[in-house]
Amino acid sequence: MDEYKDKDLSEQSGGTGDRSSVSADTESRGAELVTNQEQMQKAAEASQKPVIAEEKEIGSSAEPASGPVGLDIGSSNIIVAQSRRDRIHLVKQLNAFFTVPKSKFAERILAKNEVMYFESEGQFYIYGNAADNFANMFNANSRRPVREGILSASEEEGVHVLQAVTGSIIKKPKNFGETLCFAIPGEPLNGTGSVVYHESMIKTFLGKMGYTPISINEGMAIVMSELGDDDYTGIGISMGGGMCNICLSYLSYPVITYSIQEAGDYIDTMAGMSVGVSATRVKSQKEAELDLSREPRDRITAALQVFYESLIHKLLESLQRIFNSTDQIPKISRPIPIVLSGGTAMPKGCREGFEKALKTIKLPVEISTVRLASDPLNTTAKGALIMAMAESQ
Ligand SMILES: Nc1ncnc2c1ncn2[C@@H]1O[C@H](COP(=O)(O)OP(=O)(O)OP(=O)(O)O)[C@@H](O)[C@H]1O
Ligand SMILES: [Mg+2]
Repeated sequence: MDEYKDKDLSEQSGGTGDRSSVSADTESRGAELVTNQEQMQKAAEASQKPVIAEEKEIGSSAEPASGPVGLDIGSSNIIVAQSRRDRIHLVKQLNAFFTVPKSKFAERILAKNEVMYFESEGQFYIYGNAADNFANMFNANSRRPVREGILSASEEEGVHVLQAVTGSIIKKPKNFGETLCFAIPGEPLNGTGSVVYHESMIKTFLGKMGYTPISINEGMAIVMSELGDDDYTGIGISMGGGMCNICLSYLSYPVITYSIQEAGDYIDTMAGMSVGVSATRVKSQKEAELDLSREPRDRITAALQVFYESLIHKLLESLQRIFNSTDQIPKISRPIPIVLSGGTAMPKGCREGFEKALKTIKLPVEISTVRLASDPLNTTAKGALIMAMAESQ
């Protein structure tokens, strides 16, 4: 990675860019150049290790971090990644909560069943996997502290919930000041949510836990996880629940980052509305069996296909618009890959549909391949871990 000192690169990373499209995101990447080759080597080796994921059981407690940590705070789940000798270990917890009125009776039941909760303003906030169980019991939906990728403006206790959910899967570090890298979204193209506020709130509570928190753009995390063999040059796209995050990286530098606040949840809602069924039902059918390469076999599948096509179209239209409206694209001598990741990229035929639609747009860089990440639900956490390892002292 000697090219880190490339002159072109320093020129590229120094630009300003506007709010929504081009950001020389060196600060959110963790600031400085990674100069320690040994750290970088270790981080690159970590990306080759097998990933072992664990759902956090209700009642089981978190462990303290021993080494750098990667953290994905997604609209659906929070995932912690750590490197062990022979594997990358992931722990996952639902990023949701449900409130019940405070009472002595509820307190006893919750404690007996080891349900995680905290108290605020006369309410018990049940968080993590148990939130969905309670929501089902009351025939309601669980609530989310992160909406469309960003701390929800309408949930007063959102930060408190995030802190509690994170604390349920990772404790404070064994070594004070341990590096923790967490993923943040790019600025939404048309959104109103503030990434700056989201990032700052998370940084504050992680700092209080004893970590040295650094942030990485979510699209950049995809690049860190998947494009080591391509000198971390290419386009990482995370198609999640609340948003799609896009990052053009050149030699590990995020040159362009942005997001659109439409992804899996948007597909479920729109498809559900179109055929008169709930988004929840659409979502479970989508996750269980959607194959975009086949003729639709019912109305729900047909609607899902329509809105997948619409999402891919919006993504590519934004790529074309943003990439062609900046002069910050580096001169890259060879075609670069695109990596798709996130749960929404998982159905069969999604990668192929993207590849086909890509032929209809014009970009200022040539694309070599469109790949699907090896483990789309865990790529962001893994990429954040690789960055944490590369940046830790
Ligand atoms: N097998 C699958 N097929 C289709 N969609 C899936 C599948 N598994 C998960 N999803 C969808 O992926 C989305 C969640 O993806 P992911 O976990 O990457 O998002 P997130 O990181 O929580 O959200 P965001 O990055 O937007 O904050 C949901 O919309 C979910 O329905
Ligand atoms: Mg995500």
